[in-house]
Amino acid sequence: MKDIDFNKYPLPARMRHHTSPNFYFPLSDLKIIPELYPPVYKEIIWKDLFEDGGAPKILDIGCGRGLFLLKLAIDIFPNKNVLGLEVRAWCCDWLKTYIKNENINNCYALHYSVANGLLFLDENSIEEIYYLFPDPWVKKKHLRRRAFNQKFLKEIYRVLKPNGKLFLATDLLEVDCYHKEELTHFEKMNWKDIQTQEEWNRPATNKELFCLRENIKTYKIIASK
Ligand SMILES: C[S@@+](CC[C@H](N)C(=O)[O-])C[C@H]1O[C@@H](n2cnc3c(N)ncnc32)[C@H](O)[C@@H]1O
Repeated sequence: MKDIDFNKYPLPARMRHHTSPNFYFPLSDLKIIPELYPPVYKEIIWKDLFEDGGAPKILDIGCGRGLFLLKLAIDIFPNKNVLGLEVRAWCCDWLKTYIKNENINNCYALHYSVANGLLFLDENSIEEIYYLFPDPWVKKKHLRRRAFNQKFLKEIYRVLKPNGKLFLATDLLEVDCYHKEELTHFEKMNWKDIQTQEEWNRPATNKELFCLRENIKTYKIIASK
């Protein structure tokens, strides 16, 4: 993938989170629908998102500014549809402009909170799911805001093809331990710690590049259905 020309595609001047804490909860748990809550989809017409009209095979949950999403679509899986899910609207807007103008026909960034599950995806349909450097919510009182829980793992398991893979990464030891506890409790997926780039074999995300620059340790897991 060629470098992104940020003069041609400037990032918005204010890139603060602009998300209400409520966006991290399923809509069904909220008494009042917050303004700007991401749309909840039960079904998606894939021809509206991807040029070949097919469903996605690769999922990047919490794609953020999307460098990794774009690299997946352009360099790693040019012949598969790659779907990013992101709760921050501005990230999706920026990515959609880039994707459209650069004619990346197998890639889409959907404004969506994964707290609402993955109902719009068929079972046994996804080859790889990435959940990389999710928002940490380290504090105990914020635990409920984490998307990664037993319900989430059940959805991941449902949509993954047999032998499909879930890739996890974090820069926080507590979150890595939490991922392992939840995977162990779930029981249905084998998982392993990934220690080397050879085993991981994927490009760096925006957040990972930051960690590399700042010398921050990262923790990675690959789980298989
Ligand atoms: C620290 S950023 C990492 C972004 C990217 N994966 C990377 O590694 O550079 C975490 C991203 O996950 C998104 N996110 C957190 N909770 C989410 C949810 N419930 N649904 C969709 N996206 C979510 C955040 O908005 C943020 O963009």
